[in-house]
Amino acid sequence: MKKIAVLFSGTGSNLAYLLKNLHKQNSFEIVVALSNKKDAGGIAFAKEYSIPLEIIPSKEFTHREAFDTKVVEVLEEYSPDLTVLAGFMRILTPTFTEQIRAINLHPSLLPRHKGLLAIERSYEDNYPTAGVSVHWVTSELDGGEIILQKEIQKAGLSFEEYEEQIKVIEKVALLEAIESIFD
Ligand code: GAR
Repeated sequence: MKKIAVLFSGTGSNLAYLLKNLHKQNSFEIVVALSNKKDAGGIAFAKEYSIPLEIIPSKEFTHREAFDTKVVEVLEEYSPDLTVLAGFMRILTPTFTEQIRAINLHPSLLPRHKGLLAIERSYEDNYPTAGVSVHWVTSELDGGEIILQKEIQKAGLSFEEYEEQIKVIEKVALLEAIESIFD
């Protein structure tokens, strides 16, 4: 069994996609879903699939290392083979990155548009294409080695249409990246 941990902060549409298309298929199992927000929408998906759920509210920690130490401690209880950051909106310190083998999904063609509002900034830049990246997590924000990227043409798309396409291709990219790691 390939044990996957999924970390999320918000809506959890990527978590939902992995639950539907990866969990308990081809010997993958999502062994834990972990959120740093008590009110994250994704919590409902973890419950729907009866996945162990861990909520570690980041705002209750005074510094990043303390939060990361707790997350590492909790993750280690599940011994994941891979940890997947799917909309996990936290900057991680070496406390996390040196102990956890993790990948991150980012909605831009890295190294373009690291950090927040990547979808908006990608739409507004002058490149004809934009897309999504899945990369290994290091302590450099959105900076680790790229596993795969998917690209779309922006011409003729309204922002809403563009965002919708990004939301579709990012899920496929994340799933493909996870599968490729275990190939
Ligand atoms: C996704 O679009 C993901 O690419 C992005 O957050 C969204 C989470 O959506 N991640 C980042 O911006 C990471 N820097 P979700 O909660 O519905 O999965």
